[in-house]
Amino acid sequence: MNAIVYTSRTGFTKRYAQLLAKRTGVSAYSWKEAAERLPRGSEIFYMGWLMAGSVQGLGRAMDRYTVRGAAIVGISPAGNGDLWTEAKINGGVSDGGGRVFYLRGGYAPEKLGWFQRFLMRRMGASVIKKVEAKGSAATADEREMAALFRSGGDCVREEALEEIAVWFADGPHQGMVKAAPTVDL
Ligand SMILES: Cc1cc2nc3c(=O)[nH]c(=O)nc-3n(C[C@H](O)[C@H](O)[C@H](O)COP(=O)(O)O)c2cc1C
Repeated sequence: MNAIVYTSRTGFTKRYAQLLAKRTGVSAYSWKEAAERLPRGSEIFYMGWLMAGSVQGLGRAMDRYTVRGAAIVGISPAGNGDLWTEAKINGGVSDGGGRVFYLRGGYAPEKLGWFQRFLMRRMGASVIKKVEAKGSAATADEREMAALFRSGGDCVREEALEEIAVWFADGPHQGMVKAAPTVDL
């Protein structure tokens, strides 16, 4: 693997990329740094945050580099989005054979613009409503999710990178993440 390349809006994916770089010894670059320093076609591991089900920056990363694997960083505990659904069906591998992982980032409303904050508030409102309606029957996970939507929170855990670090050590890998499935909104 030549590099880890990431796209991060509020910093959670960036932290994961930096932790993974420290763990594996493979350099991590933001998209901008990669575009300046990393030759086209380089083999990369891509990390991108999830917005409305699609992995930000993955399309352009696939155009420029050979994406051997990818980590999707979202807020939902279980993972979501078309690429993740596709990979889960295939046992963690995309249709092109690239390995796909899911990591939980966090929610930092103070770092978002008003429109993205508005979208997240809308998404959060239904979760909060559901948890409130359940009252004491709500599970700990559901409560945690509602609290996250209410005031933000950080779910980045270094241990969550364990599986990815093992996969790095098992390389070199041949598969590629090729197509970024589109999501109907
Ligand atoms: C507008 C918007 C839409 C989002 N959509 C999703 C989503 O569909 N699924 C999900 O799990 N997380 C979603 N998130 C949460 C982000 O993926 C999460 O906050 C992530 O950790 C952000 O990473 P970053 O700090 O690297 O930008 C969304 C966030 C925003 C602001």
